[in-house]
Amino acid sequence: MKPFQALLVKEVEEQIVAEIEQTTIEQLSQGNVLIEVAYSSVNYKDMLAVQKNAGVIREYPMIPGIDFSGTVVESDDEAISVGQKVLVTGFAVGMSHTGGFSEYARVPSEWVIPLPETLTLKEAMIFGTAGLTAALSIQALENNGLSVDNQPEILVTGATGGVGSLAVQILAKLGFTSITAMVRKENQVAVAQSLGAQNVVFASEFADQKRPLNKQKFHYILDTVGGQVASDLIPFIHYGGSMSLCGNAGGIKLATTVLPFILRGVNLLGIDSVNISVEERTAVWEKLATSWNVSQTTLFDEVTLAELPKTIEDLKAGQHLGRTIVKL
Ligand SMILES: NC(=O)c1ccc[n+]([C@@H]2O[C@H](COP(=O)([O-])OP(=O)(O)OC[C@H]3O[C@@H](n4cnc5c(N)ncnc54)[C@H](OP(=O)(O)O)[C@@H]3O)[C@@H](O)[C@H]2O)c1
Repeated sequence: MKPFQALLVKEVEEQIVAEIEQTTIEQLSQGNVLIEVAYSSVNYKDMLAVQKNAGVIREYPMIPGIDFSGTVVESDDEAISVGQKVLVTGFAVGMSHTGGFSEYARVPSEWVIPLPETLTLKEAMIFGTAGLTAALSIQALENNGLSVDNQPEILVTGATGGVGSLAVQILAKLGFTSITAMVRKENQVAVAQSLGAQNVVFASEFADQKRPLNKQKFHYILDTVGGQVASDLIPFIHYGGSMSLCGNAGGIKLATTVLPFILRGVNLLGIDSVNISVEERTAVWEKLATSWNVSQTTLFDEVTLAELPKTIEDLKAGQHLGRTIVKL
């Protein structure tokens, strides 16, 4: 097989460098399915993957890219056929197993999800890991009572980021009419409204509140930021309400008291998209492909492998909005 292009992350003189290089199949991690990658996408973890000591990549060189869609070119698993369109997210992809920022990827067949019939390879990555995580968060809130029947007050944090923007759009599509988007910059207000949020608040409005219990404002919070932002919001959750937590973009420490939990019966719901079972992820992808499908109306940027390092820099600098897909 001819050499192909990939983004390689290396450690050179104790610095992390990410460059597009000619790569050979021998440089791909082992697996029994070889996929010609059509699209990958840019997620927060991909930005961390090219930082030093961020804990995403521990052994170099590595090809990052935690998700991708493409066409099978070799397979020794009879459940997955050559020519089949597939998608892969999570597991060790783009961390300790070479990932999607490459024209070819090789993975174990257990990680491979057949592309749902009503999604294209491109649409699958408009969702990507962010869409899967947004859907898992909504599903967790639904399992704890979220329903359009009650039109609850819902808050989505990091609402113009990848997970947040898809969550707002899916909630709007499902018919929720009291969606509040939390942002932190003026230019994000109009973006959040265009996604379908009826209200927009700034993270700063909820900061520095010292009371362990505050005015009950939100029945459900879909948090993608974590850290101080999530901590500040817990006192504002209604009696019996829930908050899903999936992210650490705002830090990993959660500062709270037991009072919202023991006096208001508040629930914290942890969300993981990386290691959930194939059965669970297949079911969620089916929803994303049908009744929760917002891929047609999602605004996204499309970049080439050559343009990818700039997108990653923008994400690191907080100058990135919504979703970016990478065309291989
Ligand atoms: N649990 C899982 O399986 C899973 C899966 C996917 C993602 N995640 C996590 O979910 C989070 C979001 O991922 P993503 O890909 O959507 O990232 P993203 O596109 O970079 O979005 C992050 C959002 O959070 C906002 N934000 C960051 N720090 C903030 C702070 N201190 N205060 C207020 N807002 C802040 C950003 O605002 P600015 O644009 O202003 O910076 C942006 O809107 C990440 O932490 C990621 O690791 C977890």
